[in-house]
Amino acid sequence: MTSEFTLSEFLPSDAADLTAILQDQTIHQNTLSIPNPYTEADANRFINYCINNHKKWKEDGKPPLQNCIRNSDGKVIGSIGVDIAEPVRFRPTRGIIGYYLHKDYKGRGIIPKALEVFIARAFSPDWNVERLEGDTFSFNASSGRVFEKCGFQYEGCMRGYYKKPGVEDLIDGNSYALLRKDWEKKIKEDII
Ligand SMILES: CC(C)(COP(=O)(O)OP(=O)(O)OC[C@H]1O[C@@H](n2cnc3c(N)ncnc32)[C@H](O)[C@@H]1OP(=O)(O)O)[C@@H](O)C(=O)NCCC(=O)NCCS
Repeated sequence: MTSEFTLSEFLPSDAADLTAILQDQTIHQNTLSIPNPYTEADANRFINYCINNHKKWKEDGKPPLQNCIRNSDGKVIGSIGVDIAEPVRFRPTRGIIGYYLHKDYKGRGIIPKALEVFIARAFSPDWNVERLEGDTFSFNASSGRVFEKCGFQYEGCMRGYYKKPGVEDLIDGNSYALLRKDWEKKIKEDII
């Protein structure tokens, strides 16, 4: 199977494809803040938000921290992004990763390859992130594998960490992180 894909900006014309992807209930079971049910109005809102962010990043000369993932026909098959965490005193600059993929494209290594691109962007001097964090629900083994394949360390289980609307029990969270200094060391070792 091919893992051919491109990373690009969302366009207003992508709203129907994005809406179709986000009918997948597995994505909703594994994520916290994506509206469910997901409508074309939700897609339009999100795409506008992304377009505004891209405009600002372009003006600032910074690489984008959000992209859609397209297949070889240019159709949207997923989304990936890094949110810069609110600055907290005595804490490094942190980026928090989010992604999802169309169900027919899972298992081809697409998200790990896309994530490598976002790791390099976040750790570049443009963004200067020092610590990248990936948080999953503890039952989401596929997402945990993605982080491990990209060199993140498993840092532990946060018991009862999430209180998701509509879900009775608290959900345990698995925490993964990659430090810039570890990533730079790995890059050097890969080159040698
Ligand atoms: C998690 C997700 C992004 C993984 O992306 P991907 O491009 O399929 O990643 P990979 O191909 O590297 O597969 C990762 C792991 O998923 C598992 N996997 C493989 N095929 C799969 C399939 N068809 N369905 C579900 N999981 C599968 C395997 O354990 C694989 O690890 P392995 O390569 O060591 O065998 C994708 O499954 C997804 O969108 N899930 C729903 C949304 C989600 O969970 N988002 C993350 C929230 S934290």
